[in-house]
Amino acid sequence: MKKKQLKELVNNMSLKDKIFQLLQLSGSFYQDAPDLVTGPKAKLGIEDDAIQNAGSILNVRGAEKTKAIQKEYMETSHNKIPLLFMADIINGFETIFPVPIGLGATWNPELIKQAAEVSAHEAAVSGIHVTFSPMVDLVRDPRWGRVMESTGEDAFLNSAYAKAFVKGYQGDADDLSDNNIIACVKHFAAYGAPEGGREYNTVDMSERTLREYYLPAYKAALDAGAKMVMTSFNVVDGIPATGNKWLNRDILREEWDFDGILISDYAAIKELEDHGVVENAKEAAKLALEAGVDIDMMTSVYANHLEEVINELPETEKYIDEAVYRVLELKNELGLFENPYRVANAEKEEEVILSDKHRNLARKVVNESLVLLKNNSTLPLNLNQKIALIGPYAESTSLSGSWSFSSDKDSTVTLKDAFSEWLNSDQLLVATGSRVVESEFLKDSLGNYYSEEDDMKLDEEAELKKAIDYAKQSDVVVMAIGEHYLQSGEGGSRADIELPQVQKKLVDEISKIGKPMVGIIFSGRPLDLKAEVNQFDSLLQAWFPGTEAGHGIADVVFGKVNPSGRLSMSFPYDVGQIPVHYNEFNTGRPLEDSGHSKRYTSKYVDIPNKPLFSFGYGLSYTTFNYTNFTLSNKILRKNEKITVSVEISNEGDYSGKETIQMYIRDMVGSVTRPIKELKGFKQVKLQPGETKTVTFEIDESMLRFYNREMSFVSEPGKFEVMIGSNSEDVQTLEFTLEK
Ligand code: GLC
Repeated sequence: MKKKQLKELVNNMSLKDKIFQLLQLSGSFYQDAPDLVTGPKAKLGIEDDAIQNAGSILNVRGAEKTKAIQKEYMETSHNKIPLLFMADIINGFETIFPVPIGLGATWNPELIKQAAEVSAHEAAVSGIHVTFSPMVDLVRDPRWGRVMESTGEDAFLNSAYAKAFVKGYQGDADDLSDNNIIACVKHFAAYGAPEGGREYNTVDMSERTLREYYLPAYKAALDAGAKMVMTSFNVVDGIPATGNKWLNRDILREEWDFDGILISDYAAIKELEDHGVVENAKEAAKLALEAGVDIDMMTSVYANHLEEVINELPETEKYIDEAVYRVLELKNELGLFENPYRVANAEKEEEVILSDKHRNLARKVVNESLVLLKNNSTLPLNLNQKIALIGPYAESTSLSGSWSFSSDKDSTVTLKDAFSEWLNSDQLLVATGSRVVESEFLKDSLGNYYSEEDDMKLDEEAELKKAIDYAKQSDVVVMAIGEHYLQSGEGGSRADIELPQVQKKLVDEISKIGKPMVGIIFSGRPLDLKAEVNQFDSLLQAWFPGTEAGHGIADVVFGKVNPSGRLSMSFPYDVGQIPVHYNEFNTGRPLEDSGHSKRYTSKYVDIPNKPLFSFGYGLSYTTFNYTNFTLSNKILRKNEKITVSVEISNEGDYSGKETIQMYIRDMVGSVTRPIKELKGFKQVKLQPGETKTVTFEIDESMLRFYNREMSFVSEPGKFEVMIGSNSEDVQTLEFTLEK
C-alpha cells in the first residue's frame, strides 16, 4: 500500500478505531479463549469492540494458531487492518541458543547474527512478525535476574551485539525478506541498573553515566535499523520511562531521529499510577501519549481513556494519528495488507524448525559460549576413563533459561545424552545427587512455573548415597550444578548469588572422596564461586546453553573443541563487591599494588577489590603469547590514525581461537575517566606453533566522552593503549592526542 493510501486509511478511521490500533492484547483474548469474560476481559476491563479491533497481539506462536486468529479477526474487525503478531524470541524460537549472557561470552557478533537469522526464520514461518529483542540493557549487578538476558557490562561490546541481533532479525537490506522479522530493542532505558539488583527497583544515575554507558547500545540497535523500541519499567531521573518525554521525545525521537514504534512494556502505562506520577488511568493515558508511547501493551488505559483525553485536549489527537500511522506503516512494510498471513506455514514449520542446520549452528554457539574459568589440566578428559557425572543438571532438560517457553524439552540434548555418545556404557555413571533448590520456600518463591516433577520428589538420601558410591568407583568426577533457571530471568533477583545450599553440600560430600573434579556451572548470571574455585580442578561456565547443551559442552569436555569463551561480565569475588566492573574510576586513593597495608585507600578490609574473574577473562587448552606490541606513531593528530600491532603465537599443543582485546585509558580529562575502556577486539584462530600479526586502528573519534559541559568531545593529552587476552593481563603503551 502506498503512503498516501495509508494516510487516507488513517484519516477515514473513527477515533475509537484509531485508539484500538494502539492496543496490544495477549492470545488469551482470542481464539475462543476459555473464561474470556470472567477472566482476561474482567481483569483488564476491556470491551469486545476493543478486542475485535486491537492493533497487535502478544506471544501467540504457531502457523495454524496465528492464521486462525488472523482469519477470524479479518472477518470481524471494522477496518480489516491485519493484526501484528509479536513475541519474546530472546535466545531462539524452537532451536534455543544459549541465554544472551552466554552469547555475550562468544565475543563473536557474526555468529550471534547467524543465531538471530535462524530464530527469525523459525519465528516467521510460525506466524510471528516482531520479536521483543535484542535486550541491550547494560548490567553491572549480577543480583538482578535479567542479567541472563543481557550481553554484559560493556557499552562497546553490547553495541556490537545489538547491531548483530538487529541485522540477524531484520536482514542487511532495507526491505524485509520472508525470513526476517522486526526487531524491538529494549528496555529503554537503563533497566539494568536497579538499586540493590532488585527487580523493577529504582534506577538513579547522572545523565553523564546514562549517556556514557547505558544509552549507546540502544542507539547502536537503532543505527542498525531496529524498527521498534520498548520502554522500561524503571524511572529515569525520577520519571518513569513510560511517561518520560525527555527520554522518549527529546532523545529518542528528536536527538536520535527515531520514527519507528515505541511500545510500552507489559502493563507499564497502568503502572504509572503505582509509580505515583498520575492520579488515575486517564492521566496515565495522557502522560504516556504525550511522552511518545505508541502502543499500550496489555492494559485498557489507552482503549478506555484516550477518547476522553482527546475530548478535553483536541490538539493531542495529532499524537494518536502519528502513532496509528507508525503501526500501519509497519504492517505495510511486512506486506500484511496484501497478505495478512505473511509466511506462516505449517509445512515450512516442519521443514525449518529444529533442522539439522539449525541444531549444528546452536551446537557451535554453545561451544563458543563456554568459558573455561579454571583448569589444572584435568580437562580435556581422555576417553579411557570411568566418569561419574553427578548433579541435578546431569540429566536435566531445563537448560534453556526462562525466556524459552516454546522449547520442547524433548528436543534438548542433556549432558547424559551427549556423554553417552562419547563413552561406553560401562564408563559412565550418572547420579542426580541432590535437588536443584533446597526448600519448599524456594519452590514457592520461584512461582508456579516450578513443577513437581522438577525434583521435589527426589529421595535425597538415596541420591546422595548413589552419587558418593559412583564417585568412589570413578577415575574422574564431572559435577553438573547450578542455580535453578527460575532463580534468574524476569522476577529472578537474588541477594545471595552462590550455588543453592543443597548443591554446595553435595559438592562438599563428593570432594571429600578426593577424585579429580570438573565443575560445569549452569546459571543465568555470574555466581559467587569463590568456594568452588578451591574445590574443583577445572571449572567450565555453561550458562543456560539451550537445545544443543549436551553436545556443545561434551565437545569441549572431551577436547573436540578448544574453549574460546571470554566473560562479558565480571564475576564478583563476593556479593558485597557489587557493582564491580572493569571500567571503574581510579578514585583519589587507589589501592596500590602494595596491597592492603595502607588503611586509607579505596578497599575493603575483608575481601579483595578485584573480581573473582574479570571482564574478558577465559582460559584455553593452549597458551597464546603476545609479542612485538607496537604503535605506528606516538602522536595522534586529528583526522589521522595510529596503527596498533601485536603478534600472537600459539605455544601449546591445541589449535584454538584467541580474542585479542584493546583497551584505552584517557589519563587526564575535564571529568574523571575510567582506568580502561574496551575500544576493539579481534578473534584469530591459530594452529600449534602458528603466529599471526593482529592490528587495530585508533582515531580521535574513539577518544570522545561527555565533558564538563556534556559535549561529546575528545580532549588532547596522554593516553594509554592496552592489549591483552582479558581486561587484567595487558601490555601497555602510551600515545598523545595533539590539539
Ligand atoms: C515482560 C518483559 C519484556 C517482555 C514483555 C512481553 O514483562 O519485561 O521484556 O518483552 O513483558 O512479554
